[in-house]
Amino acid sequence: MATHKLLLLPGDGIGPEVMAEVKKVVGWLDSHGFASFSIEEDLVGGAAYDEYGVPITDEAMARAFNADAILLGAVGGTKWANVAFEVRPEAGLLRLRKDLQLFANLRPAMCYPALADASSLKRDLVEGLDVLIVRELTGGVYFGEPKTITDIADGQKRAVDTQVYESYEIERIARVAFELARTRSNRVVSTEKHNVMKTGVLWKQVVSEVHGSEYGDVALEHQLADSCGMQLVRNPKQFDVIVTDNLFGDILSDVAAMLTGSLGMLPSASLGGVEEISGRRRALYEPVHGAAPDIAGKGIANPIAMIGSLAMALRYSFGLGEAADKLEAAISGVLADGYRTADIYSDGMKKIGTSEMGDAILAELGKAA
Ligand code: NAI
Ligand code: MG
Repeated sequence: MATHKLLLLPGDGIGPEVMAEVKKVVGWLDSHGFASFSIEEDLVGGAAYDEYGVPITDEAMARAFNADAILLGAVGGTKWANVAFEVRPEAGLLRLRKDLQLFANLRPAMCYPALADASSLKRDLVEGLDVLIVRELTGGVYFGEPKTITDIADGQKRAVDTQVYESYEIERIARVAFELARTRSNRVVSTEKHNVMKTGVLWKQVVSEVHGSEYGDVALEHQLADSCGMQLVRNPKQFDVIVTDNLFGDILSDVAAMLTGSLGMLPSASLGGVEEISGRRRALYEPVHGAAPDIAGKGIANPIAMIGSLAMALRYSFGLGEAADKLEAAISGVLADGYRTADIYSDGMKKIGTSEMGDAILAELGKAA
């Protein structure tokens, strides 16, 4: 059995608390013959700053380059509010994303049936929902030049942001979306605004070309981004994979995520290119939530977003789709049994802490084994 190299970067605040639960699950999968892992651990964020004066060391970066997948908890906190901008905790995460060139951000919106009534939409609209938003993460209007505010006549100012996409950036994100669709329900909706934006015209054209030449087996539909937003809240189950640019993806992924869950439930992945020699795709997995300083150290954080991020790593980096399904089924089972951390608690349910939630998921895995 192949041994998967996993780098754990717990980080700050609740990061180490939720990572502790991931370690339990990794240990369980290893000892039950589902996979073999070799694990390294390092500091990132404020924890690294306190120890080394930088939010991530070159040694940790070297480990990141050498790992098959990275799992990151969260970075940040008020303790580091006054450290220099270049070495603030967030800069550690930004360096990882930049140096590893993680250009594809994956944000799933899944509905665990036991939580369907907590959605802002009716149960039948979200029950069984499983959408994956693939957002371009390193280009577009957040990075395009010129990016300026200038004084013009009569005390008026002009602000400029520039949306830039080159065809290679669209090609590679389209490929990621089509590849992922093949492991799911084989449908991709590509979304842009070709009616008013040149980048939208190019986006639509390049996605169509990649589709025509390499992925004819995948169903492709184009939707304007505003219309896609409407459809996401009107009938979200029509979607499988949605691929879009940095700006629209930022908004649509938050909308989709909130159809189904609270912050403590939401995993994510950021993928980079495929390395020529190893054939492995660079990948960082992390919960959507931050370091949650308001609840850190209390043992009440919800570990499901972090454990769900491990499930994504199993599926997308290690080819262990079955183990990922099993883990998600165990989470679903625990929720169906009424176990809830404080953030998703409702009347009549059984309130438990971080570590108990991890244990409950292990017990559920054990039942199905
Ligand atoms: P946050 O996500 O840390 O917390 C927002 C709210 O959600 C808080 O009330 C928190 O208690 C709750 N929450 C978050 N995760 C939870 C979980 N697993 N279980 C239960 N409740 C949970 O966002 P906030 O407060 O804006 O940022 C706090 C710190 O985290 C800041 O320093 C910020 O820069 C950093 N941050 C880091 C991110 C990352 O590492 N990717 C992302 C977002 C924020
Ligand atoms: Mg956002």
